[in-house]
Amino acid sequence: MKKIGILSSGGDCSGMNATIRSAVRTALRMNMEIVGFRKGYLGLMKGDCFTLDSKVVSGILHRGGTFLQSARSPEFRTPEGQQKALAMLKELGVEGLVVLGGDGSLSGALALHRLGFPVIGIPCSIDNDIPFTDMALGVDTALNNIIYAVDCIKDTASSHARAFVIEVMGRNSGYLASVSAIATGAEFALVPEREFDLAEICQQLRARYEEGRDNAIIILAEGVGNGQTIADSIKDAIGFETRVTVLGHYQRGGAPTVFDRLLGSRFGKKAVELLISGQQGLMVGLSCNAILATPLADVIKGEKRPQDEVLRLAEVLGI
Ligand code: ADP
Ligand code: F6P
Repeated sequence: MKKIGILSSGGDCSGMNATIRSAVRTALRMNMEIVGFRKGYLGLMKGDCFTLDSKVVSGILHRGGTFLQSARSPEFRTPEGQQKALAMLKELGVEGLVVLGGDGSLSGALALHRLGFPVIGIPCSIDNDIPFTDMALGVDTALNNIIYAVDCIKDTASSHARAFVIEVMGRNSGYLASVSAIATGAEFALVPEREFDLAEICQQLRARYEEGRDNAIIILAEGVGNGQTIADSIKDAIGFETRVTVLGHYQRGGAPTVFDRLLGSRFGKKAVELLISGQQGLMVGLSCNAILATPLADVIKGEKRPQDEVLRLAEVLGI
């Protein structure tokens, strides 16, 4: 193998640049040429790529997002789109590919692998719902962003005796909501993985208010439903002022934490080493602080990463 490619696809996250930089430096050290495709599978199908050298990837480690840019491409989901990508890889002389992305992008990587192309996936998603990795890239930075925002909002909640519903991302996963609730001492975390009774929550809130605890933070996972509807129900039931804050894309960006810089650097190095040693169709992942590889087929058919332990901890802490 003399030339490999790398791309970032789907939702961006902090730590992607550290990962790409590490993959490039590992490849160059092993005398490989490496090209970066712009905008994920879109750039792959068009052959929109450029050579990555040490200079190109210097000065990007501390930046969020991905300097290769990312995109969602419906065309790549089709057999025609995948054949187009394969033909382009052949034309460019690219013999292996590293794919950074969430479960959708990893499904795309699996499709290429099944068509016989050497590919290694790297789990990147703030949702932390990808199986076979304790943490996906970007989760730690997103959590740090969230807790900064919640801490700020708590100041206003206590000054104005208000209940705040703070909506966090995660698609169908409640990981960001549960962990940020634990880390900020929130009163409630509403997540898709755990049923809840809004009437009971309102009752508990009223009891708290009557005891003199006149403010509350309710962290809502976006997969549960609309924050305003929940806030309105709370206001109607207990009569106290409520406000809603939707943290939105603020959560996904910003300078990566040390954890994500290191994790991305470890993932990038391992992915290139696997490709060069002739292994393929795998996803790198973090398991008990070691970097392991799992077949992409197992990742894609695997159950979404279980949240049981975090949910139990939240329960014990009264959240
Ligand atoms: P993420 O990777 O963050 O989960 P998406 O689910 O939007 O984001 O997937 C990103 C891209 O990966 C899609 O736009 C598409 O090009 C590709 N992709 C997603 N699912 C598949 C699939 N089942 N087969 C082939 N490609 C896919
Ligand atoms: O998968 C990452 C994520 O940020 C989800 O938490 C969220 O639901 C979704 O992507 C938002 O997607 P977009 O950036 O396309 O609005």
